[in-house]
Amino acid sequence: MNGFRLFVNPRLGVPGVAVLPASGFRRAKAAITAWPGYAATPLVDLPGIADQTGVALIRIKDEGSRFGLGSFKALGGAYAVANLLTASLSRQGVAMSVSLSDLEAGVFADRTQAITVTCATDGNHGRSVAWAARRFHCGCTIFVHETVSQGRVDAIAAFGANVVLVPGNYDDAVREADRCAQLNGWFVVSDTSWPGYTEVPRDVMQGYRLMADEAADQWTGPPPTHVFIQAGVGGAAAAVSVQMRARFSPAPALIVVEPDRAACLLESARSGAPSVVRGDLDTIMAGLACGEPSLLAWQELERAATAFLAIPDSAAVDAVCRLADDGIAIGESGVAGLAGLITVATHPISRSALFLTNDSRVLLFGTEGITDPVVYNEILCSGQR
Ligand SMILES: Cc1ncc(COP(=O)(O)O)c(C=O)c1O
Repeated sequence: MNGFRLFVNPRLGVPGVAVLPASGFRRAKAAITAWPGYAATPLVDLPGIADQTGVALIRIKDEGSRFGLGSFKALGGAYAVANLLTASLSRQGVAMSVSLSDLEAGVFADRTQAITVTCATDGNHGRSVAWAARRFHCGCTIFVHETVSQGRVDAIAAFGANVVLVPGNYDDAVREADRCAQLNGWFVVSDTSWPGYTEVPRDVMQGYRLMADEAADQWTGPPPTHVFIQAGVGGAAAAVSVQMRARFSPAPALIVVEPDRAACLLESARSGAPSVVRGDLDTIMAGLACGEPSLLAWQELERAATAFLAIPDSAAVDAVCRLADDGIAIGESGVAGLAGLITVATHPISRSALFLTNDSRVLLFGTEGITDPVVYNEILCSGQR
């Protein structure tokens, strides 16, 4: 195994702002659980891997079946699109309160068709936004950077979205989506936030919380002691963090796992302020290839994360293969939490820094299934042991 970096957070427990108010989550949960096709995703025990890593138990939330979109991102972007459309209709004086079923039935299609939503994506978020745009009858243009796989581009286009290829990395695509939105009067539905742009990504993150809430409902026996959660811009990790604090007392230790070439949250924690990682951010963990942390996510994680961990691609390949051996199909970005756990589990200093013992109970989030079969099969082949 190649090297990894672990940074234990010196600001853990420092008081800060409430990034995701409870009322916002109650609204998100009520809305999303009422969508057609809603079902909690399974929480799966991994006794073999728990044995091998020297912990009491590991459970992984398998997001592969989420709304037929293959990832937890179906919860966030789509919910934010729905909110944005209802708010826009009420601002226009069309209807004070619009139900999602009316939106879906196209009751206001003449108005919503004049609205275009846009975002940058490395695959999963754009799929969620495009899915919602089709369901709720609005226009959609999605920006992808040059290394997003063809399979993921095709999956977005299949929902009728216009897909635009942008040179550079994910952060360049974020800027291009914002620029074009300003030029054309489109609405940005971003999964990342920056100063002055927090309302929509807050809705996105409130949607993500449902994944962690379900996991807490499904958890049986003594509560989890550790959560290893992967991060791109950090929205998912922060949402999980907030919900773990809401549901478990004491909250489990939260370890944020990133690819070593795109570890912007680890760098931010090190420097004590949001920091940018530059370059092509090249990693097989495509969903995590982000160089700039989300402001909202940082505000939660800077005081609530126990540690930040950067792992090499080889760790993700190994984790994909180990899960496949157990008959569980999780994609290369979705396994990063498990890969992080496996990476530190054999390293005595890291184990003790994280208070990881034979009694630890670990919760993981397999945030995507097979979202691109070609990429998934290549990883399985490259990892054949
Ligand atoms: C499968 C998967 N897991 C995790 C993440 C990370 O989410 P965030 O960028 O909110 O940290 C992503 C982001 O695209 C993803 O696609």
